Amino acid sequence: MGGSTTIPPQLLVAQPMALESLPESYYRDLLSDVAKSRRPSPIRSLFPLENTPGILSLLAGKPNPASFPFTGLTFTARPPPSTNGELALEDSAISLPSADLQAALQYGPTAGLPALIEWLYELQRVVHGRGKGEGWSLIVGNGSQDLLSKAIVALFNPGDPVLVQSPVYAGVIPVFQSAQCDQIEVETDADGISTDALRSILESWPTNQKKPRVLYTIPYGGNPTGATTTVDRRREVLALAREHDFIILEDDPYHYLYFGPAESRPLSYFALERSSGHPVGRVLRMDSASKVLSAGLRIGFASGPTPLLRAIEAHTGITNLQPPGITQAILLALLTSAEWGHAGFLRHVTHVSEFYKAKRDVFEAALRRHLGDAVQWSTPQSGLFFWFRLRHEDDSEAFVREKAFERGVLALPGTVFLPDGRKTGYARAAFSLLGEEEVDEALRRLALALRDASAAVS
Ligand SMILES: Cc1ncc(COP(=O)(O)O)c(C=O)c1O
Repeated sequence: MGGSTTIPPQLLVAQPMALESLPESYYRDLLSDVAKSRRPSPIRSLFPLENTPGILSLLAGKPNPASFPFTGLTFTARPPPSTNGELALEDSAISLPSADLQAALQYGPTAGLPALIEWLYELQRVVHGRGKGEGWSLIVGNGSQDLLSKAIVALFNPGDPVLVQSPVYAGVIPVFQSAQCDQIEVETDADGISTDALRSILESWPTNQKKPRVLYTIPYGGNPTGATTTVDRRREVLALAREHDFIILEDDPYHYLYFGPAESRPLSYFALERSSGHPVGRVLRMDSASKVLSAGLRIGFASGPTPLLRAIEAHTGITNLQPPGITQAILLALLTSAEWGHAGFLRHVTHVSEFYKAKRDVFEAALRRHLGDAVQWSTPQSGLFFWFRLRHEDDSEAFVREKAFERGVLALPGTVFLPDGRKTGYARAAFSLLGEEEVDEALRRLALALRDASAAVS
């Protein structure tokens, strides 16, 4: 673990002496009927007893590792930049110790590899100022999508309302739909979720209807808008959560892709509730390895109230059993190798955010050059996306699917990010992949497509 990592100064102010948490009984009321009815897996709940000294285990149907063909695992990886920002000239070879490989090849704990969980606890302390043992837990899942969808199953009965920032990540809309939630859209602007809109929804909520108990929000680089919620708004959302009694589902895969200066980086909801002076336990936070380490690892982690994480873990216990052992072990070997540690990880993610910031700037310059008058946008402060409005189109869908595609460029029509699927003149473009020349060409084609569309109208 990186010895030189320190807690950011903003996290050291106004921390309460003794931290109070919401009581366990609070979550009993919050959990869905499905979550309440789950029983721990009979086999998996006995797994920890296998570690009892002297025990001979006839418990689980674990395959005999002697029959596995894998005998070693070595990979190469690019080290993080050095402390003075220099990039390494050579990749490093990292080998998994034999015992770690054996454990990774076998069935393992439902919540994830214990050593990886420990590493991630320390990361949350360093980044969000939340210490292990202070009334919260952490589990690993198959990407944050896995944890997110299980959290939704754990929190909602059919017909329950949920507050959802809108426009919102298209991948979460069908999850709320399949849980048969009533999605209440809370509008967003360039400063993130609108607290005025949120307050007005909550204050005018009909007294004879069940009030929402959960807000789903993406605090950094909102997918699709790219907006990052300001710290004042975050504080207000937390105050509203206490006043109107809901919890915050903080889905934060773009946390480390923040483009602004470190001093003005807003704290996460998870960090802010720690320093609020009120009991903690209103934030269920999702992190992802996808955007900064590899999407194919399929590793995400959830941090938050233990009863909620227990419900998610119980769901894993009857579905995919556990996150994949091999990718967890590869990630752990990388993160604990000599060049990484927590300090190395933080240098790596800073480098990744600089990489995407440069891509954002290239994209924005081309947007201005080719489409300046024809579209409107706000500069994203984190994430991978531009969200832009076609000035003369009320429905971007037909334009994107037909005119733009015919000209040889693809984007995503805004309607897919609206829980009720209404028409919109907005579209989303990812700036993460294309090089400078390709971006220029893509936006030139988009400009031609817009010209085609206006010629067809006139
Ligand atoms: C807002 C948001 N949440 C969750 C996910 C899923 O990420 P993961 O790869 O960790 O499952 C994504 C992926 O794009 C996303 O944009």
